[in-house]
Amino acid sequence: METHKELTIGLFGFGTVGEGLYRILQQTDSLKAKVKKVCIKHPDKKRNAPAELFTTDRNVLLFDEKINVIVEVIDNADEAFEIIRTAFRNGKAVVSASKKMIAEHLPEILQLQLETGLPFLCEAAACASIPVIRNLEEYYDNDLLHAIKAIVNGSTNFILTKMFEDKLEFNEALLLAQQLGFAESNPALDIEGYDAVNKWVILLNHAYGIVEHPDNVLFTGIQNIQLSDAAVAKEKNYDIKLVAQAQKLQNGKVAAFVLPQFVNHEDHLAFVKNEYNGVVIETGFADKQFFYGKGAGSFPTASAVLSDISALRYDYHYEYKKLYHHKPSELTTDFYVRTYISFDKISKVPKDDFEWIEEWHGGQERNYFIGTIHFEKLVKSDWWMQPGVSLILAPEAIIENIEIRLLKKRSLELAGVI
Ligand code: HSE
Repeated sequence: METHKELTIGLFGFGTVGEGLYRILQQTDSLKAKVKKVCIKHPDKKRNAPAELFTTDRNVLLFDEKINVIVEVIDNADEAFEIIRTAFRNGKAVVSASKKMIAEHLPEILQLQLETGLPFLCEAAACASIPVIRNLEEYYDNDLLHAIKAIVNGSTNFILTKMFEDKLEFNEALLLAQQLGFAESNPALDIEGYDAVNKWVILLNHAYGIVEHPDNVLFTGIQNIQLSDAAVAKEKNYDIKLVAQAQKLQNGKVAAFVLPQFVNHEDHLAFVKNEYNGVVIETGFADKQFFYGKGAGSFPTASAVLSDISALRYDYHYEYKKLYHHKPSELTTDFYVRTYISFDKISKVPKDDFEWIEEWHGGQERNYFIGTIHFEKLVKSDWWMQPGVSLILAPEAIIENIEIRLLKKRSLELAGVI
């Protein structure tokens, strides 16, 4: 029987995830993996581990020939990239949980893997405890993968649940998410959708072979959602979730974005509450499959890092089959979306940009309508992100070009125009 590789780990970061991993490894005797050194930023902080384990000099880890795995779980994306680049050049396998770093440096990270042949595993970087990357890599063929819809940020899902179900104020819910170790050090990254789009870029790569910078994927967070939007959602029997979505259109291209969305109570994603994440995958013949698990927090995230470390024992690599063995898919902005728009002042909304408007409600302080707009018009503008305006997608929001003419005709008929 083949003996498994001995793994000697150099760990960067001893925060929520790093310390969680250290504790888990102490309880996982079966894995022949030992943390030799931990590189930290603040030596004066009290740590629950022997002092001789720690150093502030990254080279002590990166140039130690006994260390064959670098695990990097810090939250400074630029430093994280420098660390992994040196680790690759020094012949070490890399496990990372740095979503921002991976999303922003995807082409370079792919190149480093090609040049060195070393593994780079990052399951913890998207949906924490849910093994979604490895499933997308191994199981779902590009041609069969029709759509993925997911909740990929635990903090915003936690805040929405606490606000709309437990009636907490936004700031109270955020504070709780921070205390529980779900939020980023800069929580604006969660609230404004940056964290979610970074994760989505990583998943688009493993799902469809797409290599795109996060700046090229339309996104926003939950910063503009109002209690009055939640009231409308309730009336219509919907929940509001921050949803990352990708769908292969009939022209073979992929529509992708991260936006707040109305979700039917029967939808799998409505079941996803608090810091949980959920991924619904739609394929050609299997129909829908649903992955569910904790999307943030110390042990759930560390468990994914542990699983990556464990996979290194048998030299597991991502093969990026969709990118290298198939024809990679391309993103498109040429489709329509059905949206709910609420606003304090109509002057903020270019209503003539909409193909049609189905519902219009005027209130004393807030108004809303439901309308269909070409996606490119959202990409090219930012009126929908300004304070006082909130954009929430309708369920089944994507409308392909070929459907639009029929729907347009029908809406005009209903309006009595033709
Ligand atoms: N801040 C992140 C979240 C942590 O809330 O999902 C897990 O990546």
